Amino acid sequence: MARPRVEGMAKVTGAVRYAADEPMSELAHGWVVTSTVTRGRIRDIDTSAALAMPGVLGVLDHSNAPRLNLDAGSFFGPDGGMHLLQNDEIPHSGRPIALVVAETAEQARSAAMALRVTYDEEPYDVDFSLEHPAARPATAFFGEDATVGDVEREVAASTVAVDERYVTPEAHGAAMEPHSATAWWEGERLQVVDSNQGPFLVAMTVATLFHLEPKQVRVRSLHVGGGFGSKSGGCGPQLVLAVMAATMFNRAVRVTLTRSQVFQTVSMRPATDQRVRIGADADGRLRAIDHTAAFEVSKLADYLENCTELSNTLYAARAIRTRRTAVPVDILPPYSVRGPGATPGSFALESAMDEVAERLRMDPLELRLRNEPRVGPVSGLPFSRRNLVTCLREGARRFGWATRDREPRTRSEGHLLVGTGMAATSFSAGALPSTASITAEADGGFTVAIGASDIGTGARTALTAVAAEALRIDPERIRLLIADSDLGPAWSAGGSRGTTSWSWAITGAAAKLRSQLAGATLPLTVSFDTTESLGALPPMERHSYSAVFCEVTVDPATGEVRVRRLLGMFAVGRVINPLLARSQLVGGMIMGLSMALHEEGVRDPATGRHVNGDFAGYHIAAHADIPDIEADFVPDYEPGDPSGIKGVGEIGTVGTAAAIANAVWHATGRRHRTLPIRPDRVL
Ligand code: MOS
Repeated sequence: MARPRVEGMAKVTGAVRYAADEPMSELAHGWVVTSTVTRGRIRDIDTSAALAMPGVLGVLDHSNAPRLNLDAGSFFGPDGGMHLLQNDEIPHSGRPIALVVAETAEQARSAAMALRVTYDEEPYDVDFSLEHPAARPATAFFGEDATVGDVEREVAASTVAVDERYVTPEAHGAAMEPHSATAWWEGERLQVVDSNQGPFLVAMTVATLFHLEPKQVRVRSLHVGGGFGSKSGGCGPQLVLAVMAATMFNRAVRVTLTRSQVFQTVSMRPATDQRVRIGADADGRLRAIDHTAAFEVSKLADYLENCTELSNTLYAARAIRTRRTAVPVDILPPYSVRGPGATPGSFALESAMDEVAERLRMDPLELRLRNEPRVGPVSGLPFSRRNLVTCLREGARRFGWATRDREPRTRSEGHLLVGTGMAATSFSAGALPSTASITAEADGGFTVAIGASDIGTGARTALTAVAAEALRIDPERIRLLIADSDLGPAWSAGGSRGTTSWSWAITGAAAKLRSQLAGATLPLTVSFDTTESLGALPPMERHSYSAVFCEVTVDPATGEVRVRRLLGMFAVGRVINPLLARSQLVGGMIMGLSMALHEEGVRDPATGRHVNGDFAGYHIAAHADIPDIEADFVPDYEPGDPSGIKGVGEIGTVGTAAAIANAVWHATGRRHRTLPIRPDRVL
C-alpha cells in the first residue's frame, strides 16, 4: 500500500537525530588529520604546539594508538583501509594519520592545524588501465569467471562483431550525511552511535578489530542520511578513530568527517576499463559475448567490482566468456557504490549491444527481444521469474519507441540534436541470514525487533507493513525497533538485499508467534533466524529486471547533453509500498543520469590526489539536470521469497547510463565509450 514514510514528519520537522546529533554529556571531539603525500613514510609528527593549545586532550598517531587486529576486514579479506594509525606507512593520499582530541570540535580543528608533519615521500602508482603490468585475476568471491562455448570460433562465424573498450571513472557514494561516530565505554561494554548501513555487521567488525567479544560491542544507527555503499563493508574511519580515542581518554568521543575527508577516506567505486566483444548473426542472434572487465583495487585490501554479472545472465549466446581483472594501485580501498559491478558493467554491455544493433541496422529493442534465454546462459539454472520482455514491451509502448528514427542524427529542434536510446538491465535478487523477534504485548500491541538499518530508503515503513501483513493486524499496532546491533544478527542495507532479508525474518517470526498465541500468557516473545530456510532454497537465477528508455538533446555548439525524458519499467517482485519503491527507483535513475553526464572522481597523476573531492568539484545531478522521470512496475513476484520481494535498492541505477549514452549516439551519430559524457567530449 502507498503510505508515506512513518518517520517522515519527524524528518521534515528536524526531530530525528542522525549520528552527529545525539546529545551527550562530557563529549570530547576528534579531528582527523590526513596525509598530504600520496605514498611514503611519516618521518615525524610534532605534536608539541597542538598539545599546548586550549582544550586539547591529546593526539593519537601511530606511536601511541591502540594496536588493532590486522585480520579485521570485509567479506573480501583483511582490509588495511581500517587498520589506521598502526605504522608510519602512507599507502595513499588522504590517509588518516592522526586524530586530535579536544573538548570542542573547534579546539580539535585548530590544534590539528598546528600539527607539524614531515614525510619521506616515495613514488606512487595511480595509473590504472586494463594493460597495467600488475593486473591479475580478481577474486572469484561471487563465482568463477564464465567459459561457455568457443568465443573465438563464434566471433569468427559472426556476421557482425563489435570489439570496443568502455571506461568509467572513480565514483563516490556522496551521501548527504557525512560519516560520524560517537563511542564511549560503559564498564566492559563499548557503546557506539555511528552512521552506517548495518549496525550488526559493523559491531562484529569493531569487535574483531579491537580484540573484543561480540557481546561487548553495541552499535546503533537510528537514522542514516544516505549510504550508497559508502557506509557498508566493515567499519568507517570515523568509527575506528572514535573507538581508539574513547579507549585512550576514557571519554565519549565524536569523530565527524568533513565533506572533503569523506571523499578522501571513505571507499569509492573503482574506475573500470572494460573490453566487450559481441558477435551476432544477421538476424540478431548472439553468437558470442566476451567481456573482460578490469577495475582498480587498493594494495591494502581486496575487492571485487563484479562488472560481468549481466554478461553471464542477461542474454542467450552460444559462447560466453567473462574475465574479471583487478589492478592494485596506491589508492584507498574501493568498495560497493550504487549497483556495484552491475552499474559500470551494464554501461559496457548495453553500449556494446547498441553498437551491435547499429551495425546490423536493427532496432536495439528488437535485438534484446531476440536474445531472451530460457535458462541461465552460463549457470544452466532456471529463472525464478524473468519479466524482462514485459518491461521492454511495456516501456517501449509508454515511451512511444515505435516511432523512433532508424538513422542517427536525423532529428533536430532548432539548433538542438534530439535522440532516443534504451537499455535492458538486471540486478541479482536474494536474501541473507537475519534474525527477527516479535513480542505480543499485553496491551494488544506487537513489538517487532530486527537489526535493520533505514538509510533513507523507507525500510522502517516497508518493514512495518510487512510485519502488519504477516501478523494480520493493523500497522498502528506495530512498534518497530531497528538499527541496533543488540537486536540480533541481521544483514545490512546493501546489495539490494535489506528488505528481502529482514522481511523474511519478520515473516518467519510472525508465523511462529501466531502459532503459539492462542491461550498464551502475554507478553510472549518469539524469534526467527532465516539461515535454515535460506539454505533450503533451490538454486535459481533470481534477478530484478528493468528496461530504461530516454530522450536527450545535444547542443552541438556547447556539447551540452540534456536528458529530456527518462522512463524505467521495472520487474522487482512484489512491491510492498509503491510510493516509496517508486521514489527509490527514481532516485536510482537520477544516480544513473548523474553517472552518465556528471560524476567523475578526478585523480591528478601529478600528485596522486583527488582534485575534485567536494561538492563544488564533484558534480552530482541537481534538480536543474533532472527531467520528469517515470518509473513504474510490471506485475512480478519472486516465488522463492515468503513475501514475493526481489529488492529495489540498486536496479534503478543500473541501466540508466547506457540508455543515455545510446541516446547521445542516436542524437549525434557519435558513440561515447568513456563516462561521463562531458561537453568537451561531445564536441
Ligand atoms: Mo549497496 S552499493 O550494495 O550498499
